[in-house]
Amino acid sequence: MEHERIVDLRSDTVTRPTAGMYEAMARAPLGDDVLGDDPTVRALEERVADLLGLERALFVPSGTMANLLAVLSQCERGDEIIIHEGGHVINYETGAFAGIGGCAGRGVPSEDGTFGPEAVAVRVRPRASHFARSRLVVVENTSNAGGGTVWPMDLARRVCEQAHDLGLLVHLYGARLWNAAVASGEHPRALCEGFDTVSVCFSKGLGAPVGSAICGSSATIERARRLRKMLGGSMRQAGVLGGAAIYALEHHIERLAEDHANARRLGEGIAQVAGLSIDPARVQTNIVVFGVEGGGAPALCERLRSRGVWMLPMGPDRVRAVTHLDVSREDIDRAIEVIAACC
Ligand SMILES: Cc1ncc(COP(=O)(O)O)c(C=O)c1O
Repeated sequence: MEHERIVDLRSDTVTRPTAGMYEAMARAPLGDDVLGDDPTVRALEERVADLLGLERALFVPSGTMANLLAVLSQCERGDEIIIHEGGHVINYETGAFAGIGGCAGRGVPSEDGTFGPEAVAVRVRPRASHFARSRLVVVENTSNAGGGTVWPMDLARRVCEQAHDLGLLVHLYGARLWNAAVASGEHPRALCEGFDTVSVCFSKGLGAPVGSAICGSSATIERARRLRKMLGGSMRQAGVLGGAAIYALEHHIERLAEDHANARRLGEGIAQVAGLSIDPARVQTNIVVFGVEGGGAPALCERLRSRGVWMLPMGPDRVRAVTHLDVSREDIDRAIEVIAACC
């Protein structure tokens, strides 16, 4: 029996390296990065710092570690972080900023994941001995929980200005910053302007198997390098992964437009299915979030899975589907057919 092709829309983290990427990994010159002499990792870090317009970058194993390092290198225990209440750092990273960093989180409600300078201003604590010290604002671009929303550049800049005026620092969580850049037509550097630290992932839409980076001033990255070691995140011949990340930066940024077109196509298809709700105009990048009327999102995902279309429920009445390098336009058409048959 012919093996049924799985259309895996659970996340853009599920991609496997392409043949070209494997070749780049095999060719990458290696050294001991803990001793500071892996040439591929050094080249990657220089390239990322330049691409994002920050002084230095540090290669780390995961987005979770990059964000934790942004907190640990800039906050003290008892500090407070202002962040979208549906944000990844506060919901899906094991509470590491609290558990390891000793920081509190102050959530900002927002349907699409964006918020304005006034939302920051009203959440900053007065400087008095009763209160946590407001220290860091986190902006997630694109917003995962917001359904892949791109932060308007002007809004992000005004948040940075407000935060700085109030004595706070601002971290840009750019796990999918590349998608934001392609969707908005802005250079990644423009999207990073005004931020103190930026984290990016190579292992999501860019298709590398492992790896993220945290970027910031030389002093911050120096602290982050030591803290990475403390967390056990320093890696030896890490250039084998760095080679994949460089390849991804060279070959997989522009093609994100295909993922965005596929996501829009999926959103438009879902909008035709009775019992499901989505405004396809809100699909800006590679994430499609739709409502399942009357609940039943987990059960729908199970039915889809049994027919080879994999998605994840986001609570009882919403489902998330993410397009990526290993999903073609034909896969999307098949997914739409299967969804219609399952509803
Ligand atoms: C917005 C966002 N950040 C971070 C992660 C997880 O990153 P990592 O597994 O590299 O820690 C995900 C996973 O899908 C994500 O969607």
